[in-house]
Amino acid sequence: MAAEPAQQAPLLSIEEQTAVGILPASHWQQQTTEEEPIDDGASSIGSFMSSTASLSSSIFEYRQIHGRTYHRELGTAESWEPNDERHNDALELAHHVYTMVLDGKLYNSPLDKKKVQKVVDIGTGTGIWAIDFADEFPNAEVIGTDITPIQPSWVPPNVKFELDDCNSEWTWADNTFDFIHMRMLFGIIEDWEATFRQAYRTCKPGGYTESFVCDSIFRGEDGTVKEDSAIAQWGRVWNAAGRKMGRPFDVYTLELQKKGMEVAGFVDIEVRDYYIPFGSWHKDKSLAEKGIWWKMNVETDLEGYLNYPFNMVMGWSPEETAVYASHLRKELNNPKIHAYGQARSVWGRKPE
Ligand SMILES: C[S@@+](CC[C@H](N)C(=O)[O-])C[C@H]1O[C@@H](n2cnc3c(N)ncnc32)[C@H](O)[C@@H]1O
Repeated sequence: MAAEPAQQAPLLSIEEQTAVGILPASHWQQQTTEEEPIDDGASSIGSFMSSTASLSSSIFEYRQIHGRTYHRELGTAESWEPNDERHNDALELAHHVYTMVLDGKLYNSPLDKKKVQKVVDIGTGTGIWAIDFADEFPNAEVIGTDITPIQPSWVPPNVKFELDDCNSEWTWADNTFDFIHMRMLFGIIEDWEATFRQAYRTCKPGGYTESFVCDSIFRGEDGTVKEDSAIAQWGRVWNAAGRKMGRPFDVYTLELQKKGMEVAGFVDIEVRDYYIPFGSWHKDKSLAEKGIWWKMNVETDLEGYLNYPFNMVMGWSPEETAVYASHLRKELNNPKIHAYGQARSVWGRKPE
């Protein structure tokens, strides 16, 4: 196992954090965390999932940061996401949320099942999307790429996984793919226009490219998310960390998907926005169900989500981050707080 790196100097100074409305990390230690009514929708399941965490990946030379593992060195690639079992559990729950959000579908592009032969899923994570897609398209060859080999080996015969940094020059030939899929690559892609240019080049004429991201900000309905709440702070910290890393998280707000596709030359670009409540508070049953699963996803590995951006990038101490996490958990489990997020799917066609 690689040695734990020495604590690095924060990439963002206290003054810079204050300038973008981020409360100092010490703020959270001065707040009480008394018990609030619990949103019994999913929290019990969430904590069960958390307790099943972390079978060690000690046979791999993964880097360690505050007890979590991250991908090995691969060129200059640098991911904010842990690659351990606990985080992979969260990614699989997130997959369930995203497919529910898309009404049970894996994509929005108008694909012709008889014609799709070659597909790539960039930044595939656990590979669950690629595996499901390969099942649905048994005649297509599906490649999933990532910088860390966390994908299973028992997969349908038409799926394969490759280690590849999506921010480097793509090595596939021009006009290779019928469908290029990129999901939740916020905080990962450095230059969205350059990435869509590479997608355009490697997409076949008549083929489709599709991107899905969640908004990095949680919002609130009926004034129930206060400005100085942990929920409101969440997006500010993530966006500041993304700017500092040079890999934005505010892809939704900056409309980077649509802009990037337009610049690259895609046509018939379609944009679909989604609303996802956080937790079980929504009166609409179907939305509440999505909210329960989404909360379960975040709760399954809240610490893993926060570890790199808050500790490594913003320079919060692990203790400060843990206290912030407990405030956030408390707010997310308070049914009086009506938090929600947004997501956006954008797809376009390369002209013939
Ligand atoms: C939020 S996860 C999303 C996984 C998957 N697309 C999904 O939606 O289930 C982002 C993935 O991107 C991978 N990643 C990070 N940096 C990358 C890079 N430079 N090139 C390719 N993949 C990268 C991470 O290892 C992680 O598995």
